[in-house]
Amino acid sequence: MDFILLGPPGAGKGTQAKLMIDKWNTPQVSTGDILRAAVREGTTLGVEAKGFMDRGELVPDRVVIGIIAERLREEDATDGFILDGFPRTIPQADALQEILDDLGRNIDHVISIEVDDEELVNRLTGRRMCKECGESFHVVFNPSAREGICDRCSGELYQRDDDKEATIRQRLTVYSEQTQPLIAYYEKQGKLRRIEGTGSIEEIFSRVLKAAGN
Ligand code: AP5
Repeated sequence: MDFILLGPPGAGKGTQAKLMIDKWNTPQVSTGDILRAAVREGTTLGVEAKGFMDRGELVPDRVVIGIIAERLREEDATDGFILDGFPRTIPQADALQEILDDLGRNIDHVISIEVDDEELVNRLTGRRMCKECGESFHVVFNPSAREGICDRCSGELYQRDDDKEATIRQRLTVYSEQTQPLIAYYEKQGKLRRIEGTGSIEEIFSRVLKAAGN
């Protein structure tokens, strides 16, 4: 199955994607993770993306569309993928449709995870991520068993540069202006499944499964 996880920053897209991988053995394709890896490695892509990411703005469409066009052609994505953080604009969604048409594929479900802004700010200011595997924790809501150490791979946990309150608020504004229109876009295509994104991580996962027809 080919999925899109849609939702504002902090809605739990990455957290739910990890559970979906465990269940379906389908790769998560996160443009945020790909861009952060490029920034860490200091590649040309990373140098171009860093300023946009630090300011809480979107990286230009042509850059992320190029990333996705290549990534979806990789072998591990042939039986399905979970897109996390892409598309984020209407031109990105149109480009995705063209890429999928070329591959003779189609999106099965767009799952929109809905959470209010103040809860999102609480989640993101307390988020800690693993430097090695990208697993996401929260100092209060989802703490790791050993402080500062990833439960999954024992990597070191860190706080993202864009998880500061002013940048989070900017990301939320960008989401409502540029990404939220995708809800109507996919609703029109009959692919949108809305789920309430507050509750325990497990409760939300059972809503994801239900939305995916499981
Ligand atoms: P990206 O990395 O995609 O960030 P985002 O969309 O802002 O989403 P997040 O990763 O912040 O949140 P999430 O929904 O995955 O939440 P998580 O599961 O971690 O993008 C970063 C930047 O890259 C963008 O700003 C942009 O510059 C650039 N970019 C990326 N894609 C792009 C694109 N397509 N086009 C242009 N630019 C692009 O959970 C958050 C926290 O909440 C965690 O601490 C978690 O433990 C906790 N949590 C999760 N679920 C629950 C729950 N049910 N209850 C309580 N806490 C919970």
